[in-house]
Amino acid sequence: MTQENITSVLVEKRTFSPSEDFVSQANLNKKEYERLKSKAETDFEGFWSELAEKNIHWFKKWDKVYQWNEPFSKWFTHGKTNVSYNCLDRHLKERANKTALIWIGENGDKRKITYGELHREVCKFSNVLLSLGVKESDRIVIYMPLIPEAVVSMLACTRIGAVHSVVFGGFSKEAILSRINDAKAKIVITSDGGYRRGEIVPLKNNVDEALKKCNSVEKVIVVQRTKNKIEMKDRRDLWYHELLSSSSEKNDAEKLDSEHPLFILYTSGTTGKPKGILHTTAGYILWATLTTKWVFDIKDSDVYWCTADIGWITGHTYVVYGPLSCGATVLLYEGAPNYPDWGIFWKIIDENKVNIFYTAPTAIRAFMKAGDEWIKKYKLTSLRLLGTVGEPINPKAWLWYHSNIGKEKCPIVDTWWQTETGGILISPLPGITAIKAGSATFPLPGIFAEVVDEKGNKTKPEEDGFLVIKKPWPSMIRTIYGDDVRYKETYWSRFKNEPAMGRAGEPAKREAVYFTGDGARVDKDNYFWLLGRVDDVLKVSGHLLSTMEVESCLVNYPLVAEAAVVGYPHEIKGNAICAFVVLKNDVTARSDSDEAAPSGIVEDLKNYVAKAIGPIAKPDQIRFTETLPKTRSGKIMRRLLRDIASGKTTSGDTTTLEDASVLEKLRTNE
Ligand code: PRX
Repeated sequence: MTQENITSVLVEKRTFSPSEDFVSQANLNKKEYERLKSKAETDFEGFWSELAEKNIHWFKKWDKVYQWNEPFSKWFTHGKTNVSYNCLDRHLKERANKTALIWIGENGDKRKITYGELHREVCKFSNVLLSLGVKESDRIVIYMPLIPEAVVSMLACTRIGAVHSVVFGGFSKEAILSRINDAKAKIVITSDGGYRRGEIVPLKNNVDEALKKCNSVEKVIVVQRTKNKIEMKDRRDLWYHELLSSSSEKNDAEKLDSEHPLFILYTSGTTGKPKGILHTTAGYILWATLTTKWVFDIKDSDVYWCTADIGWITGHTYVVYGPLSCGATVLLYEGAPNYPDWGIFWKIIDENKVNIFYTAPTAIRAFMKAGDEWIKKYKLTSLRLLGTVGEPINPKAWLWYHSNIGKEKCPIVDTWWQTETGGILISPLPGITAIKAGSATFPLPGIFAEVVDEKGNKTKPEEDGFLVIKKPWPSMIRTIYGDDVRYKETYWSRFKNEPAMGRAGEPAKREAVYFTGDGARVDKDNYFWLLGRVDDVLKVSGHLLSTMEVESCLVNYPLVAEAAVVGYPHEIKGNAICAFVVLKNDVTARSDSDEAAPSGIVEDLKNYVAKAIGPIAKPDQIRFTETLPKTRSGKIMRRLLRDIASGKTTSGDTTTLEDASVLEKLRTNE
């Protein structure tokens, strides 16, 4: 690829069309795509009804496609289905001996598990859970490394109608505690430890610590992974392998209502308290299945690898549920991308002939920085499709991915979605879309996305605005667990649809639309460009963090009086965290940026946050200040802090500042 090409891509002129070979074998072709799109526009219910019938196994058909009681939706009402059945049982006739999971441990362990074997293990574990008294809708927290038993646990919960809440294995004991308490979980499934860059993460110890402050958990089931020494508490803690050895293989999947709660997944919001995003059964599995077929073009012959952890929504929808529902072969890798070295991913791709590879822009940028020599050692010829998720991908990283990993022959699907959306909403379709590097391109059929201005009116082409979704879709969030009010306020109170024509004398009705929290722009060719978050939520290495969450942790540190957290651009992580900290009266300390070496409090504070929330939240910079810039009403002006953190001269209005000298002081502190 020449420099000229790169430049032209940076000004977003060039498009990348799929090759004829790809087009001819694609699951979704242009004709069918056009038909689906127009059906969704003209016959919304018929559109979803047709897809639900063709793609999902039902024990009993639904009576209404959807019910909308703003802002609560129900899909496929009174239908009966089961997610575990869709992912396992329905494949047994044709795929019992097909590999469902190829699992690779960080220490080189490898297991291949067929659909038949996975089904048996899930049935056995379902029986274990039932024998421990788990009832439909009970909550079960899963806190595990990426090992097959984690997938088995998720599928067993969905099989019996228990609601899982997976907590990312990199999270701290405080994070587990808050999630267990919010969900009032009855069971925790964990492992003795997990491997991370050669070290053992003490998962079970973290659970033990958390459970000291929680009284809903009755049993802890422990998978043996690292064999490190752990304490097993009498009557509470049970070994997974012991339970399984005496459990029956026969278990019929529960016939669950379409709207039966499926899982809760916690994500950061604008306040310190994480939001428990609730998804339900039928709509979720339908969209997970469809998008896996359409966007990843998955075939029976493919080996598919999504590098996300099951602790995130991507791991739910595109490691476990979507691909297994499609009967695919899924690769799981327990380890990090740079251990033992930066070539490990490419080695895995070559050795396992991976065809479809889905990862995050932050990983791609880290690979770019590590140097091309790690890639040159491998062929990567098995790859036919690449994907990205989690944040906007800058054209430079896109091009690098396209030429170095995709060898200029693989389409790249830049998939936009959220924990709340359950599945991909905006993405190229690999056999159809002419791609512009850095754009998630177009909403999928059935998805009515729009960019609007402050007033909720559609923006003109090329104008920046807010991304909203104007019609419900089956895999949408149903509520924030236990907090309908927050659900309504967060997603449904900011924008309304254009008024429908009111009948004579009646006021026109404006329906609420779903607000994504993202800024976006649509170009003159109708391509969507995502511009990042517009609220106080930060994306660091593709993971959402609330600035409030980090702030409330900082102020728990005994010497801290006040703190404000903002993001600033970072080459690999996308955003880095800068914390402005006001210490208590009698304390003084030197900031990170102080040339005369920062004081010990800086490191201490950083570690304090990493320990309390998890390493992802560790601030990159701590800056001490005497005061924070506030408006007269006391609101911290984060815009100004963002400018300072990213070294920009402050632009925009500063007249609402309570004390104008603060800015000067903050700058001279730099
Ligand atoms: O800001 C958007 C960004 O990630 C947010 C959702 O984060 P989370 O719920 O953790 O889910 C991540 C995995 C689906 C969005 O509001 N985001 C996600 N994908 C993209 C993206 N931004 C730009 N381009 C994307 N492809």
